[in-house]
Amino acid sequence: MPSIAVLGGDGIGPEIIREAVRVLARVRPDVETAEAPVGGAALERGLPPLPDETRRLCARSDAVLFGAVGLPKYDAAPMTQRPEAALFALRSSFELYANLRPVRVFPGLEDASSLRPELVRGLDLVVVRELTGGLYFGARETRVEDGVEIAVDTMIYRAPEIERILRTGFELARTRRKHLTSVDKENVLDTSRLWRRIAVRMAAEYPDVSVQHLLVDNAAMQLVRRPGAFDVIVTENTFGDILSDEAAIVTGSIGTLPSASLGAGGVPGKQFGMYEPIGGTAPDITGKGIANPTAAILSAALLLRHSLDDETNATRIEGAVAAVYASGKRTADVAAGSVSLPTAAFTDAVLAEL
Ligand code: IPM
Ligand code: MG
Repeated sequence: MPSIAVLGGDGIGPEIIREAVRVLARVRPDVETAEAPVGGAALERGLPPLPDETRRLCARSDAVLFGAVGLPKYDAAPMTQRPEAALFALRSSFELYANLRPVRVFPGLEDASSLRPELVRGLDLVVVRELTGGLYFGARETRVEDGVEIAVDTMIYRAPEIERILRTGFELARTRRKHLTSVDKENVLDTSRLWRRIAVRMAAEYPDVSVQHLLVDNAAMQLVRRPGAFDVIVTENTFGDILSDEAAIVTGSIGTLPSASLGAGGVPGKQFGMYEPIGGTAPDITGKGIANPTAAILSAALLLRHSLDDETNATRIEGAVAAVYASGKRTADVAAGSVSLPTAAFTDAVLAEL
């Protein structure tokens, strides 16, 4: 029996993950779920951000469904005592280096975008973000020298780390429109020069994929100028963090975007992975029952596709969400003047389409 670790976490995390679990249970009643505390929810119980118990649950599960972590009250705490430390611990201990962030505009939702509808109609791209290297995991330090505060972060990449994430990008592009945009800052950074060299070399292995190299500042601009020109975007950790939020909001709401974080060595379709909405904790709407469950529900679909080898139900869920949007139903974040449904009612509509 497949087993899923459910880590709701903080903010709207638990509210939207609950809805994803309802949808998952409908299409796959055979899947076992077990919940565990993470992030601020763990800290509040006097536990570390990623308690051992929680890590062990993840290790014996087929996949992890993750909500969000972060609580304003821990903003001043040292990095290791912040809820976010749980994310980094999960990403690194399970070597989840490939973060896929599919960005899609559902028919009927074009008017929610801040861009003109004709620019986003039919938008379908994927940001492939490197997730276990770069600034997030490089050496860091804050010190005082001669009475001056100094902080250092290190962007570090080893060639094999660059190669494996680029490979994820190339392989994914092959299954899609065969266009890959590799994003770097090779006019400034050594890590980017290495990245670019490897990307150019690998392009020769994929003659069927058209490759474009963009500097990250230009990529940020092109994303809002002509988002439809992108198919797969592959980039390092920090650039990917920033560009994926930008790509997300082009769809109108970050509340609709799921993600998959995958590791090495798995059989395609049966790979261990962590699945999470990219939108974060949204403290302003926490507990109000109005959060958009779409990202969480679509994360469950990604989980079925990548970890449970269940393309049929993944597609079914994605189709049901699309049908709900096509029927004009919305949550508050994308309501744009029309009537909006609470979190659970929106999920009910999705369930009704299944
Ligand atoms: C994300 C988030 C995290 C990140 C935060 C919460 C640490 O923004 O998953 O994109 O920066 O990776
Ligand atoms: Mg982010």
